[in-house]
Amino acid sequence: MTKAPAVRKPVKPAPLTGRVLSVASECAPLVKTGGLADVVGALPSALSPLGWQLRTLIPAYRGLLEKLEAGAELWSDNDLFGGPARVLGGKAAGLDLLLLDAPHLFDRAGSPYLDESGTDWPDNPRRFAALGWAAAEISKRGLSDGWQPDLLHAHDWQAGLAPLWAQDALPSVMTIHNIAFQGVASARAVDELRLPPAGFTPEGYEYWGKVSTLKAGLVYADAISTVSPSYAVELTTPEFGFGLEGVIRARGDAMTGILNGVDLAVWSPATDPLIPSRYSADDMSGKQACTAALREEFGLDDNGGPVFIVVSRLTRQKGLDLLLECLPGLVARGGQLAVLGTGEPDLQEGYLRAAARWPGRIGVHIGYDEAMSHRMFAGADVVLVPSRFEPSGLTQMYGLAYGALPLVARTGGLADSVIDANVAALRDQVATGVQFAPVTADALKLALQKVSDLYGQQDIWQRMVARAMAHPVGWDASAREYAALYDRLTGR
Ligand code: ADP
Ligand code: GLC
Repeated sequence: MTKAPAVRKPVKPAPLTGRVLSVASECAPLVKTGGLADVVGALPSALSPLGWQLRTLIPAYRGLLEKLEAGAELWSDNDLFGGPARVLGGKAAGLDLLLLDAPHLFDRAGSPYLDESGTDWPDNPRRFAALGWAAAEISKRGLSDGWQPDLLHAHDWQAGLAPLWAQDALPSVMTIHNIAFQGVASARAVDELRLPPAGFTPEGYEYWGKVSTLKAGLVYADAISTVSPSYAVELTTPEFGFGLEGVIRARGDAMTGILNGVDLAVWSPATDPLIPSRYSADDMSGKQACTAALREEFGLDDNGGPVFIVVSRLTRQKGLDLLLECLPGLVARGGQLAVLGTGEPDLQEGYLRAAARWPGRIGVHIGYDEAMSHRMFAGADVVLVPSRFEPSGLTQMYGLAYGALPLVARTGGLADSVIDANVAALRDQVATGVQFAPVTADALKLALQKVSDLYGQQDIWQRMVARAMAHPVGWDASAREYAALYDRLTGR
């Protein structure tokens, strides 16, 4: 029997560009408290050459609406958890931005999460549930300009409810930037946030009798990811999983780790407008000028020793209590330290006391200052990142790009981005920094000693600096991994 000629169905051409609704509580350069903002702000331009258009939905915190160029109302709701809300779309800082304008939730003085006295806003669960709700509504019905996402990408607990509410509408990815923050609210939230009661179980979004919005994202998203391969493994252990290790293990290979990149348009010493003198690996004279300027800015003597920096939240997560214990040795060996950060009051006090004890050797600036942070990476010899856990970390990558060799704890993204100067790596000439483990003051002291020894051998040191600066820290490789994940989830 001959086969009847196959009836050819017209092949529907895949649209050239896939559309992603990216949802987060921060987006650089508009609103930033940490690396989450850098990543959310960098993903759109990293992914657009790979065929993915991202529109980024964030809350319209006070002052943000004015930054939107030609904003148009694209969505509205008369009663979004207690007040009217709308989404305005437009360009801001080169980004395709969607701002959730809900004055009763977001038009306040203070930071995204804290009031002016530094206390969490008591209605944070409701504020960010509203963000998730708006994201899910857009996922289901699209925006009034006809834009309909093919995929939802939710970042951290603030966006964690979006994959739950949008689960029937489109595929979603939930990315963990820091599992220490889980969006835990009392069981009353089930009613207050209009959560589906059937999901209030250990298999759903319930967490020890409460609600966890991060857990909701981890359970209901089609794929979950975190910001380095090593952290993806660590998250399956009780030490790092903060109680969610079982949930993550249960998702099996739905979890991937994709290392963060650096936005080289912002973080390149050859083009950075915020540093006193630009430089590149071919001509490092500008770096010397930056070091001199940094010493002057932090009141450090010109003693010829290595200049260490810390640019960080001053918290125990970042291991900065351990560093305090190591300062006598660092100073005794001729090192100098410049610190920029804010955080736990006792750590701020500790660093201020150290600056008073060792004038000319340690300078401390308590505060948040983006431009100063650039000047510090440009002037530094070493950036210190002794974190107890670090999902990815960005400052060690800025250190690589600016030739400030990273001294890092061997954990998470720090382990994945810095090649330790062990004997083999030095012989093979591939080392770009120093790693230490376990994360204790004693191990950090030994690592500081090792850095001093290496700095004393300037030929080896300068070769490491050149390699660090040549190491690819941009988004290319990681953006391809996100694109592959998006392709897989949408069947493109
Ligand atoms: P995390 O997000 O856990 O704080 P990351 O290393 O991923 O850690 O990102 C921190 C980001 O915040 C980096 O861009 C860093 O330069 C910046 N940063 C942290 N503290 C300060 C500060 N006090 N002033 C300026 N920038 C800071
Ligand atoms: C979190 C993590 C940090 C990571 C950042 C961006 O704040 O603490 O390691 O780089 O998110 O993903």
